[in-house]
Amino acid sequence: MKILGIETSCDETAATVVADGRNLLANIVASSVDLQKRTLGVVPEVAAREQLRYIIPVINESLKKAGISPADIDALAVTVGPGLIGSLLVGVETARALAFAWQKPLIPVNHLLAHLYVNWLSDSQPTLPGIALLVSGGHTELLYFESHEKIVWLGGTLDDAAGESFDKVARLLNLGYPGGPAVEQAAEKGNPYAFNFPRPMINDSNFDFSFSGLKTAVRLAVKNPSPMKLSTEDVAASFQSAATEVLVKKTFRAVREYRVKSLLLGGGVIANKFLRRAFLDYRERNQLNLDIHIPPLLLCTDNAAGVAAAAFYKGQSEPWQTVAANPNLSLCTK
Ligand code: KG4
Ligand code: ZN
Repeated sequence: MKILGIETSCDETAATVVADGRNLLANIVASSVDLQKRTLGVVPEVAAREQLRYIIPVINESLKKAGISPADIDALAVTVGPGLIGSLLVGVETARALAFAWQKPLIPVNHLLAHLYVNWLSDSQPTLPGIALLVSGGHTELLYFESHEKIVWLGGTLDDAAGESFDKVARLLNLGYPGGPAVEQAAEKGNPYAFNFPRPMINDSNFDFSFSGLKTAVRLAVKNPSPMKLSTEDVAASFQSAATEVLVKKTFRAVREYRVKSLLLGGGVIANKFLRRAFLDYRERNQLNLDIHIPPLLLCTDNAAGVAAAAFYKGQSEPWQTVAANPNLSLCTK
């Protein structure tokens, strides 16, 4: 079964073809990141206009790369939310039009789940139940993935998302945009013990997170560089290590409490090599019998591969007439 996936929830325009929920036949992503570097972030109106230009060429390229024609597609899948309304509409309306024109089923997909379903595009597929951590620019969510049908939201951030805090710290340190990779690069040369930044909520017995206090602590350190000259690298490394410690500790608390054998990671922040290593190190130190699924770097940030994979396992299409963009779509079932 071949699914054409489409993703336009934020600034990327992506299309993919996935066979049987696990084989990636094509994965095309067009980004407007060069424009955002000038504006130090995504300008929704600008992003949506770029996506209107890219969407048809990206879909065409994806089919070409997969070596198939529209007739070979069994279904279309599209991100319906959460995300920026203007951006979502580009993908959703294109998918609706194609589903009508090609007479194909259309499967609406939650963007947050798409970030996690990239883990099924692999030879070692996750077994459920598992715990999933999603950390992106707009989200920090911990989930109990009981089955494809039952996904329970355990907790999330009370203020800033993890990726957002990387972006804000990058701004404070004048490291440019996007912030995550810039902070990671600066941190490589820094001392993670130079600043003892707070680890908010790390010992709380819930599954919630908070990153705004950490960001404020970084701001204070940057504003009052005493007694020595401030090292950008040390601040970046100390921040990255504080954020990582909270994410790792709380995730493993959920792993223990729910007694699962699988951990699924996803979202742009999982591209961070320090964080990826920290999850593996924790497992080793504690000798846990746990499969940790970490997507390849390309599938951490926004893409359409997870959209098609999620659609395969969901399997439920909807009439194109009722599929609609929902910028506030959530996973919260608590
Ligand atoms: O998943 P994503 O591409 O888009 C959203 O759905 O938000 O995530 C983007 C976020 C940004 O905040 C970016 O700074 C962060 O992921 N990010 C990183 C790294 N690469 C991207 N954060 C830390 N380290 C990285 N290497
Ligand atoms: Zn995303």
